[in-house]
Amino acid sequence: KRILFATSEAVPFIKTGGLADVAGALPKCFDKRYFDVRVILPKYACMKQEWKDKMEYITHFYMDLGYKNCYVGILHMEYDGIQFYFIDNEYYFSGPKPYDSAPWDLEKFAFFSKAVLSVLPVIGFRPDVIHCHDWQTGLVPVYLHDSFQQNEFFWGIKTVMTIHNLKFQGVWDVKTVQGITGLSDYYFAPDKLEAYKDANFLKGGIVFADAVTTVSNTYAEEIKTPFYGERLDGLLCARAHDLRGIVNGIDYDVFNPETDKYITQNYNAKTFRKEKVKNKLQLQRDLGLNEDPNAMLIGIVSRLTDQKGFDLIAYIMDELCQDAVQIVVLGTGEERYENMFRHFDWKYHGKVSAQIYYDEPMSHRIYAASDAFLMPSLFEPCGLSQLMSLRYGTLPIVRETGGLKDTVEPYNQYEGTGTGFSFTNYNAHEMLATVRNAEKVFYDDKREWNKMVDRAMAADFSWSHSAQQYEEMYNWLIGDK
Ligand code: ADP
Ligand code: GLC
Repeated sequence: KRILFATSEAVPFIKTGGLADVAGALPKCFDKRYFDVRVILPKYACMKQEWKDKMEYITHFYMDLGYKNCYVGILHMEYDGIQFYFIDNEYYFSGPKPYDSAPWDLEKFAFFSKAVLSVLPVIGFRPDVIHCHDWQTGLVPVYLHDSFQQNEFFWGIKTVMTIHNLKFQGVWDVKTVQGITGLSDYYFAPDKLEAYKDANFLKGGIVFADAVTTVSNTYAEEIKTPFYGERLDGLLCARAHDLRGIVNGIDYDVFNPETDKYITQNYNAKTFRKEKVKNKLQLQRDLGLNEDPNAMLIGIVSRLTDQKGFDLIAYIMDELCQDAVQIVVLGTGEERYENMFRHFDWKYHGKVSAQIYYDEPMSHRIYAASDAFLMPSLFEPCGLSQLMSLRYGTLPIVRETGGLKDTVEPYNQYEGTGTGFSFTNYNAHEMLATVRNAEKVFYDDKREWNKMVDRAMAADFSWSHSAQQYEEMYNWLIGDK
């Protein structure tokens, strides 16, 4: 069976968030005897030169989009056993970052979505299923329903729309979007692309895809309610029958404390009691924290946005800093959060370290060095950071929402279970109490803490189980058992 992942990012080529981790790692995890899974993404000018050098030009052609006639270049690279195709167009993909702002991004990804379909006959790959990810590829099922039906090549191709983050939908006024996409009036009705008078790419994807998934069970339920539904809860309820949650995994080869080249000291489930702390000491030294192997180090690696619960942290940061803890933050995003952490770094120097940049190796060092990982998200479709933390024996402290709820088992002192600490309400003092509960176990009962680390490191969030669920879904769509 042939599957095509259409995505706007994938590691190792380009990444702004968890979607890239998923699109880069998941394709490798299917049973190769039955599934030929390939990936298609834009060739961004901002990709590292080393990748661009390795791409091999296949061919190019021109494609109509709205009133424009656009160049579509096709490049190819095999990486880690997976066939990657890249769509080249300097007009659309030459910016300093993959995403800019609407309506330009809408035009860019309308182009990409149409190009994804247009290149298939050219490269001679007819997928049984096109698996679309987030709003950037929401128009793939729409275009497939539209013009491509005239071509026999496309008959019977199924589509899956995976929602990684419902907050981002690709929305702009109908008139502009009509001009950009070249889609007819037929598509701009409330039962199709139109939502609240505007045109909505993700909605188009959800309406026209054969199946809809999201990245955890809890989020799949949450988005059917107004609080999490981002105004599409009605539609998601209507499609509830075809909507399922399949939890993300992480790449266990890349995130492996035993072999990780970025960290100071490798360790595993047997040796962490002695070895893990060496990572903490080196990090403390390098990032200006007080060198103290016994201090509880709390890590944060995140996009600095509202989604991640930083207003809760802002609210109790002064109180938290009275405790015997250290906090290290690696992240970029909204300026107010960047400055907040810079401020606390200045105010509590030696206890708080703000690393306001994006750096893959540093993220690994923090997952390895920290004792706990704080992720009090307002909403979280899945979340990968807490999975990375678990893998490195760093206990997550999370709010019970979305994938955080599904992947972190709360500590139960009576039953001796749990892999982390969690709280329910979006409330700063509830979070603080939970952090303090973690402190108590860390300082007063190291044996209990270490047993939690044992359980955390033994938890399996590799992709194998979830990949199987995707396989079952593809089989069901294609009509095979
Ligand atoms: P989201 O996709 O909402 O940002 P996830 O938890 O799914 O959240 O994935 C975030 C990914 O981005 C993780 O791999 C995390 O390690 C990485 N990440 C976030 N911020 C940074 C940063 N400043 N430097 C390096 N990696 C980061
Ligand atoms: C989104 C979500 C995150 C999820 C990631 C990959 O960026 O915010 O929770 O883990 O996509 O699915």
